[in-house]
Amino acid sequence: MKLLWAVSALLLSCWRANASTAPKILTDPSEVLNQTSAVLSCNLTETTLPIKGTYWTHNGKVLEDSKSTEATAYTSLRLEKITHSSGGKYECVFLTEPQVKETIEVKTLPHVAAYKHSEHGNEKDKAMMVCVSHGYPLPTDWFWFKLEDDSQQPIINGTSDKYEIKSTPNKTTLTINDLSIQNDIGYYVCSGINEIGKNSDQIHLRVRSRLAALWPFLGIVAEVIILVTIIFIYEKRRKPDEVTDDDDSGSAPLKSNSTANHKDKNVRQRNSN
Ligand SMILES: *[C@@H]1O[C@H](CO)[C@@H](O)[C@H](O)[C@H]1NC(C)=O
Ligand SMILES: *[C@@H]1O[C@H](CO)[C@@H](O)[C@H](O)[C@H]1NC(C)=O
Ligand SMILES: *[C@@H]1O[C@H](CO)[C@@H](O)[C@H](O)[C@H]1NC(C)=O
Ligand SMILES: *[C@@H]1O[C@H](CO)[C@@H](O)[C@H](O)[C@H]1NC(C)=O
Repeated sequence: MKLLWAVSALLLSCWRANASTAPKILTDPSEVLNQTSAVLSCNLTETTLPIKGTYWTHNGKVLEDSKSTEATAYTSLRLEKITHSSGGKYECVFLTEPQVKETIEVKTLPHVAAYKHSEHGNEKDKAMMVCVSHGYPLPTDWFWFKLEDDSQQPIINGTSDKYEIKSTPNKTTLTINDLSIQNDIGYYVCSGINEIGKNSDQIHLRVRSRLAALWPFLGIVAEVIILVTIIFIYEKRRKPDEVTDDDDSGSAPLKSNSTANHKDKNVRQRNSN
């Protein structure tokens, strides 16, 4: 019985000791939602551990400017002009043995951008439009619309073979099959939504007729035909001209040249004899 008491007392004291030295970090605020600026702070309490310094990280990357060797149990980080690129997970780290840290999440509207603001496809072919998102948190939902007379008509995935939507948190792709000039030309809107709100971007789609796709080729063929015709006509006209040229003035130097050649040949022949 005495032994049992002793063991329980020992266990209890161990638990108490553990509890009294378990460090606790109080964060203020606990998270930042949709703000343009903020001051993040961490207050290390309930510990007697010696502190050798503090620093902060952003999405796992150490913020060099935040490094401090002060033996302080309180550290803060000022964020000015918060945008989607400053959102994410911030961590305050206390250089104790072992290190202790706590996370504060900074959440912003998703940043949504069309991969290309202008796309084109050929009639009866298909077109693909892509939007990407950055920031934290990434969109949990994506929606596509077609602009018609200033109203947004939702594009529903899977209701026909016409539209296909494929989405991941950081990217959405709208594929339009069997393009038609009458119905598919226009502006398309992609919209990404996270817990803070939504952002969108626009893409202009052009559709070319199948004949238009042939124009460059037809152009080249036409060019070749015209060139060949011109050369042909030119050659035909040139030949009779040359004959008359030879007959009157241009013949004289030609003749003297040929007689000179003849003489040379004669001389050489004589020499060899
Ligand atoms: C840190 O927390 C302790 C305990 O809650 C509190 O007494 C102290 O004032 C806080 N320090 C700062 C700088 O907020
Ligand atoms: C759209 O439908 C296709 C096929 O029905 C499916 O593979 C795809 O995951 C759907 N996309 C979305 C965003 O629901
Ligand atoms: C999207 O996220 C995945 C993993 O979450 C990542 O591997 C990929 O590079 C991201 N793509 C873009 C375009 O940011
Ligand atoms: C976030 O801020 C923007 C502009 O600052 C505002 O339009 C939007 O309504 C805010 N969203 C939330 C959920 O507070």
